[in-house]
Parts: sequence; C-alpha cells; structure tokens
Amino acid sequence: QAFFKPIQNMAPPSPTNRHTKISVIGTGNVGMAIAQTILTQDLADELALVDAIPNKLRGEMLDLQHAAAFLPRTKILASVDYSVTAGSDLCIVTAGARQNPGESRLNLLQRNVALFSKIVPPLAKHSPETILLIVSNPVDVLTFVAWKLSGFPSNRVIGSGTNLDSSRFRFLIADHLDVNAQDVQAYIVGEHGDSSVALWSSISVGGVPVLSFLERQQIAYEKETLEKIHKEVVESAYEVISLKGYTSWAIGYSVANLARTILRDQRRIHPVSVIAKGFYGIAGGDVFLSLPAQLGRSGVLGVTNVHLTEEEARKLRDSAKTILEVQNQLGV
Ligand code: NAI
Ligand code: 2OP
Repeated sequence: QAFFKPIQNMAPPSPTNRHTKISVIGTGNVGMAIAQTILTQDLADELALVDAIPNKLRGEMLDLQHAAAFLPRTKILASVDYSVTAGSDLCIVTAGARQNPGESRLNLLQRNVALFSKIVPPLAKHSPETILLIVSNPVDVLTFVAWKLSGFPSNRVIGSGTNLDSSRFRFLIADHLDVNAQDVQAYIVGEHGDSSVALWSSISVGGVPVLSFLERQQIAYEKETLEKIHKEVVESAYEVISLKGYTSWAIGYSVANLARTILRDQRRIHPVSVIAKGFYGIAGGDVFLSLPAQLGRSGVLGVTNVHLTEEEARKLRDSAKTILEVQNQLGV
C-alpha cells in the first residue's frame, strides 16, 4: 500500500492488451548496451536482467532505474535466479567470455558452450513460448547449441549474426559514396566472423543497383576496392577490440533493431543467423548462419531468395563448412 496517494482515482487503470517482457542474460558491455537501447527505444514494458555476479547486477539495475525520469516507463528487474525471466516474449543471451585482442570468435567456443548449458534450459523452462536471440560468440554455433538445448522449433531461435556486419558494411559504403547509410541496402551473410560473405550483386543505393549501374555506364570498378571494403568489415571488430577492449554500441543498436522487428511484428528482412540447411545449396548438417530472413512476432518467417552469383554461393557454402567443422567438434 502506497504511503501517499497523489492521484484521486476516477477509474481503475484499464488493462492494456500489450505487455512486452524482454530478458537480457549477461550484464556486461554488450548486455548493458542492449538494455539501455531497448529502454530508450521504448521496446518493453518489463525488462529483466540476469547475470552471475549479484553485486554488479544490482548496481546495473539501480543505475538504469535511476534514469526513470528521462525514459519511457519500463519496469526493470534483476536477479541471479532465472525465475525473474518468467513469461518473457524475448530472451537475449549475451553472457560469456569475449575475445582478447587478436583472438578469433571461434576460439571462445568451449568456454561459452559450457555456460549455455546453465543458461538456456532455465530460460526455456520459465518462458516456454519465448523467442531466443543469441548474441554471445561464436554466435552461429551458439545459436545451434541454444536450439538443441531449448528444444524449441527453429523459427524461435535466432542469432544476431551478420545484422551487425551488414551495418558496418552499409556504413563503409555510405561513407565511400557520401550518402546516408539508411539508403544503402547491402548484405553480409554467412558466418558472423572471418568467413563472412559480402553480397556485392545485391547492393543498391536509393533503389539503384550499384554493380549493374557501374557496368551499364561502363565505369570500371576494381574488384580489389570492393574486397578492401569487405576486409575492413571483417577487421572492424578486431580493430575496436584492440582499441577499447570490446565492442558494444553498434551491437546494442543492432539487437534493439531486431527486437523491434520481432516484438512489433514488423516483418522486416534482416541478415541473421537461422537454420540454413537446404537454402542456397547448403547441405551436410544442421547449421545456423546468416541469411536475409524475414522476422516477425513468431520469429523467423522465411528466408529471402536473393540472387547470388556463383562465387557468392560458393563462398556461402564454404562459410557453412567452416561453421560445421567447428560444430562437429562439439559432438552434439
Ligand atoms: P563482458 O565480459 O563485459 O560480459 C559478459 C557477462 O556475462 C559478465 O557480466 C559475466 O558476469 C556474465 N556471465 C558469465 N557467466 C554467466 C552465467 N553463467 N550466467 C549469467 N551471466 C554470466 O563481455 P561482453 O563484452 O559483454 O561480451 C559478451 C559476449 O558477446 C561475448 O561472447 C562477445 O564475444 C559477444 N559479442 C557478440 C557480438 C555479436 O555481434 N554477436 C558483438 C559483441 C560481442
Ligand atoms: C563484433 O563483431 C566482437 O562479434 C563482435 O563486434
């Protein structure tokens, strides 16, 4: 019972139809960047935070709660106990080891697989209808692991994948052409990591397909320039990690962007990690990697039929092979 009644009631608060709950597991650099972007963008009515370190977790919760006067109203909870996540519409997993400078994402596998067996089963138990959005690295293999551990249908298990790489790609192309990155449509697909694939043939700016425009105008473009931009995308995370120790802001926006599409049923197309067997000639086992996928309230709605050149399709299959080789070491 409140000690003070500032409002003279005229009617009880009407129940709202929409009550959206998001849980973020892992309140490190990435989890907190995601949490704060979700709050500023008004994506949830309730936000539950979970971490293994109780003091840090409570500190992060209080610090976010103290911004209430400047933010849309969201109930923020935190606990080391997974019951706090009960009834989540979306669970975002960011817990786990991150790369040291120069270390590859795939190198984190053993450490983070062990953690996932403690994280995914309780999430699935407390929110059997939730959508799982995996961010911890190596994200493609861990999305496969989360799918197996949860027992969920594959449309409800998604990896943040190359949504981030594609944003880096769009930024670099926009910077090169001096246009707005939001007007650049360009996809990186495949592994979120070193074997990612740039889909040059599908790049357009303001609806103008870039490569065919250059060809039609007989403007020579050097393959090396394009390769250089892709190489820069692949090296982006290594560079940021060597400079500031971790990456956080861009992944925060990237994941909040996915959360909006999913929870508001926007049916937008995002390059994210989905089960890829059977698409674009990918065979040989259940593998998650990024393909342009349509997302909505029930998770993955479908995969776009983008036209790939022979070379792009081959590189995508090679990327799938790289992930499968790592996955096979797990013996799952
Ligand atoms: P961090 O070290 O700042 O945070 C990790 C957090 O996980 C810590 O707060 C730790 O206490 C927590 N944690 C560890 N074990 C746990 C458990 N059993 N249950 C709950 N929480 C637990 O690391 P950071 O920078 O936040 O990175 C987190 C992960 O995200 C890394 O694997 C990193 O590689 C990945 N990442 C993925 C990106 C992507 O595009 N997919 C982008 C950036 C980072
Ligand atoms: C990133 O690409 C490290 O996967 C992380 O920022």
